[in-house]
Amino acid sequence: MIPRPPGGLPLLGHLVPFLRDPLAFLRSLPRYGGLVQIRLGPVSAVVVCDLELTRHVLREDRVFDKGGFLFERVRDFAGNGLVTCPHADHRRQRRYVQPAFRADRIARYTEVMAREARRLAGSWSDGQEVDITAELSLAAGRSLVSTLFTRLPFTGLQETVDDFVLLIGGSYRRMLLPHRLNRIPLPANRRYDAARTRLVRLVDEVVTAYRADPEDRGDLVSTLVAADAGGQALSNAEVTDQVMTIFAAGFDTIANSTVWALHLLAQHPDIADRVRAEVDAARVDATGVNVAEADRAEADATTAAGTSASVAGTSASVDGLELTTRVVREAVRLYSPGWLLTRVTTTDTELGAHRLPEGTSVIYSPYLLHRQPALFPEPDRFDPERWVGVHPQRGPFIGFGAGPRRCVGEQFGMTESVLLLATIMRAWHLEHVPGRTVREMPLATLRPGPVWMRATRRDGLVRTGAAG
Ligand code: HEM
Repeated sequence: MIPRPPGGLPLLGHLVPFLRDPLAFLRSLPRYGGLVQIRLGPVSAVVVCDLELTRHVLREDRVFDKGGFLFERVRDFAGNGLVTCPHADHRRQRRYVQPAFRADRIARYTEVMAREARRLAGSWSDGQEVDITAELSLAAGRSLVSTLFTRLPFTGLQETVDDFVLLIGGSYRRMLLPHRLNRIPLPANRRYDAARTRLVRLVDEVVTAYRADPEDRGDLVSTLVAADAGGQALSNAEVTDQVMTIFAAGFDTIANSTVWALHLLAQHPDIADRVRAEVDAARVDATGVNVAEADRAEADATTAAGTSASVAGTSASVDGLELTTRVVREAVRLYSPGWLLTRVTTTDTELGAHRLPEGTSVIYSPYLLHRQPALFPEPDRFDPERWVGVHPQRGPFIGFGAGPRRCVGEQFGMTESVLLLATIMRAWHLEHVPGRTVREMPLATLRPGPVWMRATRRDGLVRTGAAG
């Protein structure tokens, strides 16, 4: 029998310790075995606490399919997009989406990302206290619009980002409730439904605009609208699901990893100094903080037009930012956005020494594995040096998943996060505002709560208020 942690209560199971501190609860499980059976109120699941068993689950995506209590609720708002679709639809969907994330596309997006990063760094004033979680969520949203969804309007983007944050929080809360309660018109359910309706309507209008003018804008939606699905175009609903999915998967993970990286650097001034030295020495065109006139004029013009320009043909890179890249990777290790991910078995199967019947919910957790001392010595220590000479895809790091469902946006996300971090570090000293605590908020992703920091300008490096 699969071991169960002690303390389970009738009806509630392990819900109380889980709700009190989900991350601590997860971290307590490996002591009971490589597989652990838990119950969270109405849902039961098997938690995989062992690296090899996790790899098996991720490799065998036909047997351990997308589903389980998290992805069932994510499907409520993201539909049948690439993150949630079952194995039967996955290969086809991945074929349509993948071209927008190829290396040559990323190289083109990088210029746009760098511009958005400069815009953010140029918008603060000396001594200002900023909630970097809010700032980076919007900046990451702007970058996604400017690269992948270029017809989505910038006007109202803050509301769009807020709606996605609400859905990410809502789907987590809903996963632990009996589904019928989610349909009762309580205020939280009404807010959730309203946010979902607004977003689907907005995205649907944008997809219709792409169809009306099929010019190839070099972005994801152009790629999807032009996709040949065996002689048939993808339907509007299919494209809408993909846009909802990739916006949600993209802005939040990028914002989170960058915020955690800035938080960790503020706690480790010696490493922050080394990052600044690296960034100062790196090529200016990749991360330059001073906004060039031409760049600013372009940014102003596109803002006035209400949408971003098509993706530019020039490229920038993150060359020379090795330490900065290691810092981001280490932040993703310590605070993996995908802290709790679910699967469902599509047939009776075996995992390790145990038999799992068809329909078993399975949890895997990058967070859980990344905090195990046997896999990462001194796992709670922020140590970017642990990545020197290490190929991140060959070791125990699974911050971007593994196997056929591995993150399609890894390179995009890493590039953007590194550019944001480098640009901010080049321009600003950030320190935590005393008295404001930083909280981990494990929702559908591991979000930081508000992170208030005081920004002090590094002399002569940024023209404040350059762009808004
Ligand atoms: C630091 C940034 C990111 C992290 C840590 C991250 C993490 C992950 C993880 C762990 C998975 C696997 C989920 C599972 O196994 O169930 C995943 C899948 C996915 N991610 Fe990311 N992600 C990041 C950035 C992005 C970005 C920027 C995008 C898009 C713009 C994106 C889009 C996706 C998609 C579409 C999938 C599903 C892939 C498939 O099933 O084929 N991600 N991501």
